[in-house]
Amino acid sequence: MDEGDRTRRQAAKALARLLPRVQTTFQAAGGAAQDWQAFETRVTREWERLFGLLVVLYGQQYDFFYHLEELLHAAARSWRDRAGWLKQRDAAREANPDWFQSQTMLGGVLYVDLFSGTLAALHDAIPYFKELGLTYLHLMPLFAAPEGNSDGGYAVSDFRSVNSHLGTIRELTALAEALQHEGISLVLDFVFNHTSDEHEWARRAQAGDPEYQDFYFLFPDRAMPDAYERTLREIFPTVRRGSFTFREDLGCWVWTTFNSFQWDLNYSNPAVFRAMAEEMLFIANAGVEILRLDAVAFIWKRLGTSCENLPEAHLIIQAFNALSRIAAPAMLFKSEAIVHPDDVIKYISPQECQISYNPLLMALLWEALATREVKLLAHSLHSRFQLPRGCAWVNYLRSHDDIGWTFDDGDARYVWIDPHGHRHFLNAFYIGRFGGSFAQGVPFQENPDTGDARVSGTLASLAGLERALQAGNPEQIDLAIQRILLLHSVILSIGGIPLLYLGDELGTLNDYGYVAEPAKADDSRWVHRPRLNRAALEQRHDPTTVAGRIFGSLAHLIALRKAQPALYDGDMEVIMTGNPHLFGYIRHHAGQRLLIIANFSEHPQLIDGNVLRMYGPGTAFVELNTGTELAVDGVLTLDPYRFVWLETVAGVPHTLPS
Ligand code: GLC
Ligand code: GLC
Repeated sequence: MDEGDRTRRQAAKALARLLPRVQTTFQAAGGAAQDWQAFETRVTREWERLFGLLVVLYGQQYDFFYHLEELLHAAARSWRDRAGWLKQRDAAREANPDWFQSQTMLGGVLYVDLFSGTLAALHDAIPYFKELGLTYLHLMPLFAAPEGNSDGGYAVSDFRSVNSHLGTIRELTALAEALQHEGISLVLDFVFNHTSDEHEWARRAQAGDPEYQDFYFLFPDRAMPDAYERTLREIFPTVRRGSFTFREDLGCWVWTTFNSFQWDLNYSNPAVFRAMAEEMLFIANAGVEILRLDAVAFIWKRLGTSCENLPEAHLIIQAFNALSRIAAPAMLFKSEAIVHPDDVIKYISPQECQISYNPLLMALLWEALATREVKLLAHSLHSRFQLPRGCAWVNYLRSHDDIGWTFDDGDARYVWIDPHGHRHFLNAFYIGRFGGSFAQGVPFQENPDTGDARVSGTLASLAGLERALQAGNPEQIDLAIQRILLLHSVILSIGGIPLLYLGDELGTLNDYGYVAEPAKADDSRWVHRPRLNRAALEQRHDPTTVAGRIFGSLAHLIALRKAQPALYDGDMEVIMTGNPHLFGYIRHHAGQRLLIIANFSEHPQLIDGNVLRMYGPGTAFVELNTGTELAVDGVLTLDPYRFVWLETVAGVPHTLPS
């Protein structure tokens, strides 16, 4: 009997023993018979996988079976309490598991306080979300968090109550239901790497309770922190050096990867896994359809490693995945791994995170905009875009976070780029330390030792709109707007779910006011987290305004995207355009074939008709943006920062000369 057989036998035995006990409790608490049946079916389907994962993680613990039983009880309770409309969703999503591959998908993300003030007030914005075409709405962290600096809500003090400034759990659930009624899926964060130091678990640890001290990593002296730090990367080096914080009240060093008030959870303790699983299921039942798994890379630590992307991190996420398949099957996981592309991809599978941010595309689009060349973008995506079946990228240009240059050094060298020098150039370019740059960004977390830095700034400011408006230069304004549209054209067509950072559709500029607020002053990411610009919102239908020009063109592109069958799912083939400034790719699906080409330079660029013909033989092209048939006279010319979505029309002889 091999290891696998043994685990299977063990799993079956455990289930046979535990399930009747869980059923008794379920029924005693008033759970309905048909609900139990659905639960039992799903548990039986997922059990072997879940058990197998947990055995590897926690099988050596003396109280393993106790935790296992408690976990099953918790899953059953959560399923029992799940609202009827969510159970309907579960069934619908299980019947159509590829729902999120549709070209009609479009994401948006916003801060409730900065956009509408409160959850209740957000209802009034639903017509705007529909006007934009959103089908996915990510509300930035909204759970209870410390007053003042809470890392934008990423320090959670209670996963079961909404920050009182924003509303209540009841209002959250009502909003989720209202959104789903309009075809919009609610997306929330699961900030599971750490809690705030005000979370009840942290408070109990501070009070000396050893049970809760084991929820975190506490060290009496510097011996272990020093040993770990030999191989750790500093995430917020300007906030505090190293990854540990000394707590006077405890006389201990606490592991704090991010800010000092964000205490890393210790997942080697099965009680932590179980407690967080319960919090996850609670959030699921609030009506969340996509759960953003925050900072996935950091959740497991081992001495002598970087403590990022360790194998156990994957096992933990997979175990959460199996649990959610059991008790909240409509919910998808979105991975937030802003790390090396080889590591990003490892979180993406139907059994782990079905969708993931695409930080490589994001970084390389900005890279191409700075260099006006697409070689690194084309080369990297050629081999790194493909995902396993049943998974999708979330393609974004800006988020609430900084831009880090997460491309692979080998990819860069392959196209004759020195990776180290290039990152320095890109930082200099985007923080305005490079003569002639159009960009207006702010450095984030410059490391005094390594010189490393990341970049803050809104899409519009980084794309040149801020400088152009300051200079009052109409040509520069045109170019900046065209850059903004160019980048959006790519995320709307390249394959996956495009995600808008709301405000960008109106050309929102940097807001430097954060430096006057003590709780924000040290964190330059606030420069790109401004309040909703109501004036710009009002102008969105006025084509004589900058906001109106951006919004109008973007709305047109979004509508276009939604109408193209070829843009379903994420199959994409990068093409060799033969011009260093032109990025091109092919999308096809359901009999439609699109050839998309984008000019990353501020000069007109040509593409040889022979190249086009190579990718669409025996066809004519229709340019979808303008709806015109393309008469190409040997070459196709793309104006500065222009893009074309070419549909190859089968059967019609092409207009290119042979
Ligand atoms: C994620 C968030 C970031 C936050 C960090 C710590 O990376 O996107 O904003 O600072 O996690 O929670
Ligand atoms: C690092 C982390 C990422 C986090 C970011 C916040 O890049 O890898 O998870 O979002 O820092 O600045």
